[in-house]
Amino acid sequence: MYKTLHTDLTDNILTVTINRPDKLNAINKDVMSELSEAVTEIYDNKEIRSAIITGAGPKAFVAGADIAEFLGLTQEQGQALSAKGHDIFFRIASCPKPIAAAINGFALGGGLELAMACHFRLCSTNAKFGQPEVNLGLIPGYGGTQRLVQLVGKGRAIEIMLSARMVSATEAHVMGLVNYIVEEQNELLAKTRELLSIINDKAPVAVARIIECANIAAGESLADDGGAVRNGFLREQEAFGECFGTEDMKEGAKAFLEKRKAVFTGK
Ligand code: COA
Repeated sequence: MYKTLHTDLTDNILTVTINRPDKLNAINKDVMSELSEAVTEIYDNKEIRSAIITGAGPKAFVAGADIAEFLGLTQEQGQALSAKGHDIFFRIASCPKPIAAAINGFALGGGLELAMACHFRLCSTNAKFGQPEVNLGLIPGYGGTQRLVQLVGKGRAIEIMLSARMVSATEAHVMGLVNYIVEEQNELLAKTRELLSIINDKAPVAVARIIECANIAAGESLADDGGAVRNGFLREQEAFGECFGTEDMKEGAKAFLEKRKAVFTGK
């Protein structure tokens, strides 16, 4: 049914596997729109009580948005791309059914943002986390500037985003970015399913209300006018677009694809 995703519904848990292992499961347009369909399925299918998002292969959860698709985008197109990602990730965060991220390797850029939009996170010991967009002359554009601050605090979040460094599984656990580390990668999904099975036995209305109220506490709910409490998210969309108007961003994306270090000039 999907081209870039594999899905499996067993025991009321839908497992959604992003399946582009040769590109480290980078989120291109197809992945984004199929992810949107899968999220709709989670909302609508009464047989689904909870869901897991994970990546195919032993190396990556998701290594980010597909950088190859960034080349040639205008400021407006960059902002629109961010807005689309925001909508889908916001639907994940506000889903009344629990969605867990099972992080089986690199969770970078849009990959970490996807994991952070989920309600909680488990990872294997090889997982590596980061928001390396600054290396591309860019900022996180799928909610990362907001959700990383929520999860690990402003000081840690700013340092991680500005340095573009990778965070190990152990450090991610210590700072509260992940709930559990699973020693054996092949047991990650089983442990995630175990946790969701416990939740699946609880009252669905109570589960949904806990998610809703926790989102309000984190400033993630939609205001009645659709705006106010999402100000930080909206500013991130504009700022992401602004970066697309710079020479540095074009240089950053080209340098990645040409496998060389970017040279930034401030233009
Ligand atoms: N977008 C597009 N392609 C990506 C990608 C991304 N975010 N991340 C990895 N890939 C591709 C690589 O270009 C490579 O493709 P190729 O085989 O056609 O050359 C393939 O996936 C494997 O990646 P590679 O870089 O060769 O693996 P590695 O083990 O040497 O390095 C990473 C792994 C994760 C450190 C490195 O791929 C990386 O830095 N990725 C980008 C991370 C990033 O900046 N994400 C934020 C994007 S906004």
